Amino acid sequence: MDSNWGSVPSEVRFGIRYLSAHFYPRKYMSRWGVLKPLSVKFVGKVMGYSPQQYQEELQHFDFFERYFKGEPLDLELPESYIRFFDNLTEDFKSGDVQRIVTRFHMVTEGVLATTGLHLLREAGERYGLKEFTAGIRRIVEDEARHINFGLSLVTDREYAVKRIEELYPEALQIVLDGKETLSSLAPFEEILGMMEELKRARLAKVMS
Ligand SMILES: [Fe+2]
Repeated sequence: MDSNWGSVPSEVRFGIRYLSAHFYPRKYMSRWGVLKPLSVKFVGKVMGYSPQQYQEELQHFDFFERYFKGEPLDLELPESYIRFFDNLTEDFKSGDVQRIVTRFHMVTEGVLATTGLHLLREAGERYGLKEFTAGIRRIVEDEARHINFGLSLVTDREYAVKRIEELYPEALQIVLDGKETLSSLAPFEEILGMMEELKRARLAKVMS
């Protein structure tokens, strides 16, 4: 943890911890423990699926676990978040690559995580949290690769477009449910605009 963490305004500190918990939902890890073996199976099943991506996801968990060791991320997350990841588990269980890729790579990583990481990086920079910002930057680089990789697995464009449109409201609800806390990191309208923009960009890529 950065030595100047304590000098960050308390509502911003809470905003950072709340948003970070979406990347490392410590309180719920056992609920989605099944995702671990399932995604290993996925790695084995999909030709060309990189075990490196899987490895990187685990490193991301490690970063949050380590950084917040003194203030563990045992935060309660909204129902909408829990439902979204329950559904992700179902998608992984189905083994249907188009289902997994659209929810996981396009919406979870491509819209939700991208928005969240942007907010975390900006807050880290604004308050001079060097170690935190460096960690988030590395994750941003990894995620950009993961999203491109997901795009390369899309074979049914029509289905992908339909799914992104369908899942977007589920993703949006998670952000709406965090409005009060997330507003400590950026004006809420900006956050919603960023999400909308990312959705448009993912749709454009899928259709190109
Ligand atoms: Fe990822």
